[in-house]
Amino acid sequence: MLYVPGDKSISHRALMLASLAQGTSEIRGFLPSEDCQATVAAFRRMGVGMEQPEHERIRVHGVGLHGLQAPGSALDMGNSGTAMRILAGILCGQRFSATLTGDASLSRRPMRRIVDPLRDMGASISMSTQQTAPLDIRPVQALHGIDFHMPVASAQVKSCMLLAGLYASGTTCIQSKHGCRDHTERMLQAFSYPVEAQDNRVCLQGGGRLEATDIEIPGDLSSAAFFIVGALISESSQLTVKNVGINPTRCGVLEILRRMGAKIDIRNERHYGAEPVADLVVTSSALRGIEIPEHLIADTIDEFPILFIAAACAEGTTELDGAEELRVKESDRIQTMATGLRNLGIDAREKPAGLTVRGGRLTGGVVDSGGDHRVAMAFAIASLAATGAVRVLDTNPVVTSFPDFADRAAQLGLRFG
Ligand code: S3P
Repeated sequence: MLYVPGDKSISHRALMLASLAQGTSEIRGFLPSEDCQATVAAFRRMGVGMEQPEHERIRVHGVGLHGLQAPGSALDMGNSGTAMRILAGILCGQRFSATLTGDASLSRRPMRRIVDPLRDMGASISMSTQQTAPLDIRPVQALHGIDFHMPVASAQVKSCMLLAGLYASGTTCIQSKHGCRDHTERMLQAFSYPVEAQDNRVCLQGGGRLEATDIEIPGDLSSAAFFIVGALISESSQLTVKNVGINPTRCGVLEILRRMGAKIDIRNERHYGAEPVADLVVTSSALRGIEIPEHLIADTIDEFPILFIAAACAEGTTELDGAEELRVKESDRIQTMATGLRNLGIDAREKPAGLTVRGGRLTGGVVDSGGDHRVAMAFAIASLAATGAVRVLDTNPVVTSFPDFADRAAQLGLRFG
């Protein structure tokens, strides 16, 4: 039986909205990873009082939508694209200037996707000539709501716009062809802020207020996915992962694995506030390669590294296309995964927006994570099915999302030397 730490996306949002609410909120099941601690540090720097009596429990004394203070110097968001992009939306509505910086990986990631629509709302925000961080944000007289059609289905962009919309006059609407994770919409409603959401379109009116509330955060399905695949590719194993978030906008990984022949039972379905959770019972399965349907990509976006490991262990070929977003994650995940898989004896061929993986026998070998936490964890799990030792280089970034990954793995009998 396994418990995974709190959901990263929901932890960021809970902390941000609790900071902007009227009154005190308690967050339980918070993910105490480096990414989320960057968000904690940023709001503390802007004058939000917080107590963290345990790593996973935070009491936040909200200052209201207009109560943040100037941070004085740049806010360093570390490796977290989510923290940087969503916080940028909030900062565009403040009466002070602020600068957002990040580590080397975050400083390479595209920011124009938020800068352009924020400017359309009247914001003053600038980025580097490479269209990356640092982001410089200055106060403006007023923001106004816009009707924005997102060219790529990105929850970070949608959330950035919605939170800027809290400070805008009129209505802010965001729409996309395919849906993407909707934690911000659910969390806004939990903080008593009205949001209208229908058919991949979400709208809110600016000028309201957020009321403090207590939040319980589900286990992170993106973290559970490593152990789910680990159980599937190991002989005669059965694993129960408890209290995992099963928000439908995150469940693409379960759907894809099932189509590959995975036995995964969903039990004990219930809710933690606005978010559905369940226990997942996973049994070793003979997997087969599939063509991954494009409509499932956004709901699976962080799970492709570990899905490619499942594909390497499957019979037949797995095809992914239409996933160019994977090239601009914490690493270029198409390239880092293709190279790593080939180093372990698997036929993996890059496409401009995807990968073809022919199932085979994983051998031992050396792979480089490219500084990407999810790539590092995916290859650590691959060792379960490999015929020799797998050496993963650059595993430090695992602390950004899953600080006790190695401990939880050890609990299941998987030891890293
Ligand atoms: C996230 C959205 C996704 C995901 C990221 C977390 C979020 O990014 O990859 O890890 O919390 O909103 P995009 O919005 O860029 O797809």
